[in-house]
Amino acid sequence: MIYRYCGASGVQLPVLSLGLWHNFGSVDDFSVAEAMLLKAFDSGICHFDLANNYGPVPGSAEENFGRILKRHLSAHRDEMLITSKAGHDMWPGVYGTGSSRKNIIASCDQSLRRMGLDYVDVFYSHRYDGVTPVEETMQALVDLVRSGKALYVGISKYPLELQQRCYDYLREHDTPCLVSQYRASMFNTLARPNLDLAAREGSGFICFSPLAQGLLTGKYLNGIPEGSRAAKDSGFLQRTQVTAERVEAARELSLIAGERGQSLAQMAIQWLLSDERVTSVILGTSSVRQLEDNLRSIEGPDFSSDQLQRIEAIISREGLTL
Ligand SMILES: NC(=O)c1ccc[n+]([C@@H]2O[C@H](COP(=O)([O-])OP(=O)(O)OC[C@H]3O[C@@H](n4cnc5c(N)ncnc54)[C@H](OP(=O)(O)O)[C@@H]3O)[C@@H](O)[C@H]2O)c1
Repeated sequence: MIYRYCGASGVQLPVLSLGLWHNFGSVDDFSVAEAMLLKAFDSGICHFDLANNYGPVPGSAEENFGRILKRHLSAHRDEMLITSKAGHDMWPGVYGTGSSRKNIIASCDQSLRRMGLDYVDVFYSHRYDGVTPVEETMQALVDLVRSGKALYVGISKYPLELQQRCYDYLREHDTPCLVSQYRASMFNTLARPNLDLAAREGSGFICFSPLAQGLLTGKYLNGIPEGSRAAKDSGFLQRTQVTAERVEAARELSLIAGERGQSLAQMAIQWLLSDERVTSVILGTSSVRQLEDNLRSIEGPDFSSDQLQRIEAIISREGLTL
């Protein structure tokens, strides 16, 4: 594994992290989740990305993570960087969603109970909810650190105009923003300005959904296979998002990957990491085999300028962003 310093901090993250958004919930096969987590840890992935609502059902990914931790990894807590978040819908009620102080503080307590932890390494505001003043949310994060429930704080998906305010508030309150998390892949380059700002401000940067939820793999080249995220009721990827334009772009990108001796998934992950300012890419996998495939993304050859130009020409087409 390769590790990079997270922004201007003294903490390092593996360039590949494991996310538990899908495939770790109560609807999923626990033994597969357990095997993936152990394989990840044994491969040097010591950073695990969770959130209160991951499941389904919401909360069940944290519960399953806690079970696996207790069963196999409790002696290794200090070798792991465990994160959680609050801000998206957890239950249908006014205190079950959003980025208020009320929700952030209570949600962190609930996450700690579900995972069986005394503290998380990073607690994130999962999103700007469109209403709560940034100062209210950021102060709640600061107070989580002061109360010992989180070591660091992070933000996720904050729009550019609010991202700077978050960094300023947190720095003024002696709790610099360790890490900023944004959707980023060959099919989504909208967060480039957020990365520029994070890098200037000394915040680490993490890319999520690096494979556009599976579209940047070979799996949808011949239709929507049974059991895939787009085919599942519990999956966030909709069948309608598997468009002819995206499939064609994936087909052309996979030819470049083939020339490089890689799978498309490996190339798509390596392409994100080729920007040294990216601290880590969060993998989401539904089998140990996929995890093994993606782990090899750090072994690929450097990109030639010709390959980068051809990739850019494909991914800058209209209608691909997801
Ligand atoms: N901050 C936020 O708001 C936010 C939002 C979204 C995600 N995240 C984080 O980012 C993590 C990753 O997101 P993601 O799951 O959307 O990542 P992704 O890498 O874009 O998609 C993962 C899916 O792609 C397929 N896949 C992965 N590797 C494959 C391979 N080698 N071959 C074939 N198919 C492969 C699998 O789908 P199948 O099920 O079809 O096999 C897998 O579940 C999440 O778990 C979460 O921790 C954060």
